[in-house]
Amino acid sequence: MKTIVASDHAGFKLKARILTFLSENKIEGVDLGPDGDISVDYPDFAVKVAEQVSAGERTRGILICGTGIGMSITANKFNGVRAALCHNEATAEASRRHNDANILVLGGRVLTEDMALKIVDIWLNTPFDGGRHQGRIDKIQSIEKTQ
Ligand code: RB5
Repeated sequence: MKTIVASDHAGFKLKARILTFLSENKIEGVDLGPDGDISVDYPDFAVKVAEQVSAGERTRGILICGTGIGMSITANKFNGVRAALCHNEATAEASRRHNDANILVLGGRVLTEDMALKIVDIWLNTPFDGGRHQGRIDKIQSIEKTQ
């Protein structure tokens, strides 16, 4: 599965480290920008990732801004996107097992690089549990249909 990655200026350094981590682990990573750490607007980059994840089941995304909050708010506007802002191993695991999150959101200014890479590793390698959790996701999708 392809993993598409984008950030704003506050997440730029961590984005580069995550792309290296994906490459080291033989995971196809696609960089959707930005190309440097000059100031940009996080919604512009959240949209690039969220549009593709919303459109295709075989694509997952990683978004990084300063806190992760702006990227989360933006990405979750898109149908079918379940963007999860994760701070530690437990939230990374639960976001996959319970929420079937298809975009991982990280805060470049609030996480150590070590913790961020642990989160990425867990998030990419943890399956969705299904069962009772699927019914809850179906309820989220039914809300989307009424919007
Ligand atoms: C940029 O200064 C900062 O606002 C952004 O990276 C993010 O934290 C927004 O939620």
